[in-house]
Amino acid sequence: MYWKSFSRAEINQKVEEALNKNASYAKGEVMGTPATYLDEDEFYPDASFLKDAPFLRTLIANPNHIGCHTLSKESSPIFKGTQAIERELIQICSEEIFKSPKNGIDGYVATGGTEANIEAMWIYRNYYKKEYGAKNNQIGVVYSEDTHYSIPKGGDLLGLKSIILPVDQDDRSININCLEENIAKAKKEGVKYFIVILNVSTTMFGSVDEIEPVVEVFDRDETVFKLHLDAAFGGFIYPFTNPNSVHNFNNPRVSSISIDAHKMLQTPYGTGIFLIRKGYMHYVTNDQAQYVPGLDYTLCGSRSGANAIVIWMLLMNYGSEGWTKKMQDIIERTDYVCKRLDEMGVKYFRNPHINIVTIKANSIPNGIAKKYELVADTYEHMPSWWKIVVMDHVKYDLLKRFLDELEGELAAK
Ligand SMILES: Cc1ncc(COP(=O)(O)O)c(C=O)c1O
Repeated sequence: MYWKSFSRAEINQKVEEALNKNASYAKGEVMGTPATYLDEDEFYPDASFLKDAPFLRTLIANPNHIGCHTLSKESSPIFKGTQAIERELIQICSEEIFKSPKNGIDGYVATGGTEANIEAMWIYRNYYKKEYGAKNNQIGVVYSEDTHYSIPKGGDLLGLKSIILPVDQDDRSININCLEENIAKAKKEGVKYFIVILNVSTTMFGSVDEIEPVVEVFDRDETVFKLHLDAAFGGFIYPFTNPNSVHNFNNPRVSSISIDAHKMLQTPYGTGIFLIRKGYMHYVTNDQAQYVPGLDYTLCGSRSGANAIVIWMLLMNYGSEGWTKKMQDIIERTDYVCKRLDEMGVKYFRNPHINIVTIKANSIPNGIAKKYELVADTYEHMPSWWKIVVMDHVKYDLLKRFLDELEGELAAK
């Protein structure tokens, strides 16, 4: 994995060049779109700081990145400058971070992990319908009980059957015997085609689902499946902290991946990324979008080009080496938490390449968990787990305060 870092001045200049290649509302170059720059009373276009703020300049210029710009079909020439940056961003994410072959991936900046996950399910549902003549009730979505709720949400919207797999309560791995039983049962009920979603990592535990044991079950009797990886949480950390990761496009079984920049990469909300091997986007082409040059393939439709720019800016600011270092530092801080918890005999789950530590609720007083705003596995009844996510702001002094207080309370018990 390698991409170079750029100085702030270089990033600013590249965004300026991209904006100059776009048609400009401010210069009176566009008359047909139902859009313009952001309101001038609220968003001062002449504020002096804007010259050093390329994201805000793009936000105000308000390019619409509707459509999917990695497809060979021409998309809107009005915003071709910033769309080219989005293409470069998709290329870095797919080729450098997720090891795809060169120019092998389509993708776009989605609203978030939810949209990217549902986009994948939508594409595979339509693929099975078109290529196999499948009916909705013949398509099953397979995922673990620890999977994010965007997957059942997508299944509900798309009219697909959910097949939920139990996990081991200690190591959070998918129970492969149950997978076999559930697939056999679903087949008896008429399900023939499967959409498998595996996590890199789960929201609550940071667990990463193993690919091979799951794929083996499907391969054994040549069951038809497509594999999507939900890397909404782990996408910007796991590939950097686990050099032996097989959760990428180098693995021929992986067809698509969701990543959220608005988690680890610290970009504003609205910055998810959807990546899929070439040859699939057209299953969701909307032929009715005739007024959009290049048509539309996304769930969201209109979307701000500034979101693509800001993800690209972050990646360029760090370069691959800077970002790897930052993620390694976060892992070291997480290791510190685990070491202290081990010393106290507190029970928890943690994947060593992920910055989530999920503590058994009976190991920690509720008061401390609430005081430090740990997140519970449920707010509907008594929680079984509380999680810490070691994000950028969760520094050693905060962790130490929490751990010292926990240690004091446990000792006093
Ligand atoms: C694993 C996983 N998938 C999907 C999502 C949904 O992402 P978003 O909230 O960006 O739609 C999340 C959010 O926490 C997540 O952790």
